[in-house]
Amino acid sequence: AAIVEHTFNVGNLTVERLGRSQVITAVNGQFPGPKIEARDGDTVVVHVVNNSPYNMSIHWHGILQRQSSWADGPNMVSQCPIRPGGGRYTYRFNITGQEGTLWWHAHVSFLRATVYGALLLRPAPAEGYPFDKPHREATILLGEWWNASVVDVERQALLAGGAPNNSVALTINGLVDGDHQLLAVERGRTYLLRIVNAALNYQLFFKVAAHSFTVVAADACYTDPYHTDVIVVAPGQTVDALMRADAHPGRYYMAAQVYQSLANATYSATATALITYYHQDDATPPEMPSMPAFNDSATAERFYAGLTGLLRDSTPTVPLHVDTRMLVTFGLGVTPCAPEQTLCNRTLGSVAGSMNNVSFQFPAAMSLLEAHMRGDPDGVYTREFPDRPPVMFDFSGEAGAGAAFAFTSKGTKVKALRYGETVEVVLQNTAILGAENHPLHLHGFNFYVLAQGAGNFNAHRHVRAYNLVNPHQRNTVAVPTGGWAVIRFTADNPGVWIMHCHLDSHLPFGLAMIFEVDDGPTPDAVLPPPPPDYPRC
Ligand code: C2O
Repeated sequence: AAIVEHTFNVGNLTVERLGRSQVITAVNGQFPGPKIEARDGDTVVVHVVNNSPYNMSIHWHGILQRQSSWADGPNMVSQCPIRPGGGRYTYRFNITGQEGTLWWHAHVSFLRATVYGALLLRPAPAEGYPFDKPHREATILLGEWWNASVVDVERQALLAGGAPNNSVALTINGLVDGDHQLLAVERGRTYLLRIVNAALNYQLFFKVAAHSFTVVAADACYTDPYHTDVIVVAPGQTVDALMRADAHPGRYYMAAQVYQSLANATYSATATALITYYHQDDATPPEMPSMPAFNDSATAERFYAGLTGLLRDSTPTVPLHVDTRMLVTFGLGVTPCAPEQTLCNRTLGSVAGSMNNVSFQFPAAMSLLEAHMRGDPDGVYTREFPDRPPVMFDFSGEAGAGAAFAFTSKGTKVKALRYGETVEVVLQNTAILGAENHPLHLHGFNFYVLAQGAGNFNAHRHVRAYNLVNPHQRNTVAVPTGGWAVIRFTADNPGVWIMHCHLDSHLPFGLAMIFEVDDGPTPDAVLPPPPPDYPRC
């Protein structure tokens, strides 16, 4: 086991995109930011120095953070921000039983639009991959670009209580220019593509012309080999896919295209980059893949439903006994405009995201984790998060059903869990306002996706469809619009963990909830005290 140490200097960077120059927030003058590579068992140490003009915090998306909730990163959940003007914090965490592709990103405001990078976890040398060793690998970070400061884009949306301005382009590895060569391949060889959706607000389809893939992992959890010519990836999710270079030696586009689940959406965008064969004898222009329709939900659903988890020693590991069952409805609704929302339409109100009709409010005075450690959440949060929504109805279209959820309550309420208990959550997308898929991300755990489907979850009908043998594991599940997903996890990691929509515009609107996990009985089940430089407010 090694110590993998980095210093992240966060500051302004001027870059040229779409023919104009734009000041962005970036790490070490790089966009995308530095790649972190580690192996199972390593300790990662990242010294963050904030010389940007904004509050900063960094989240290591998908890292389990066992006994290191202090290093998780979400602003005002696990820490207060690292202050501008030279504020510092050292994130320190262990890689425990994880392999595959993850990523890191800012977890404050919209800053993750430009503050992000890959976090690659390789198997221990003696172990190797559970598939034939690829000849080479390529990291493919998919993102979004604004011709504006993303902090302004977010501020504008919050003042108006509505959706933010759309990005103006998609990016591949930070570039909007569609003809950059991303990968050179040799005919007959196999390549591992590590694909990350770092976009803020869009699910994406990904294809390579004339090639198909074998998916081998999602969210750094191995899957059974799954053959497909299209990959679907929601914000926050990653896919590891093998691609065999078996086409005529030439040039081929890879393309990422917005997948819209929103009923009457019109926005669409595509980003491309090139894959070039060595020794190509082909002077013809590169070929574009034929992409699915931008609203092709059937293709998206088929992809997600096709994934199963790889059982490395053929023993199912899903917890079969469930201690706590929750039904969590979530989506967007409206709430009266707050006084500070000066651009908000007083008649229509402001958009509010909610779970079980509670719109999550970030605390201001102290992070949730610090209050948890003090054992005195008074004034910061209450343990009142409901296990069920206040009313049930047919989320798939009962007339007037939305009225019951139109106005959400607001609060900082957490769901307390005993150490080691098993939790099943039925996630029901209410699709009341802005009927779209929501990628829900849980910090601190991987969960099993037992089943997912369209319409209302129905216990009698759907329990029979649970995969309790080899469901795939994830940290982010895209719950279909007006549909549901069932997840299960074991609460064996003490600390405070947020579950939220990874569409970045929905987080400040409150589409989030918190799990608070107690210390367990043994020393390896206790959250150690915070590091000395832990940022407080
Ligand atoms: Cu990738 Cu809470 O986020």
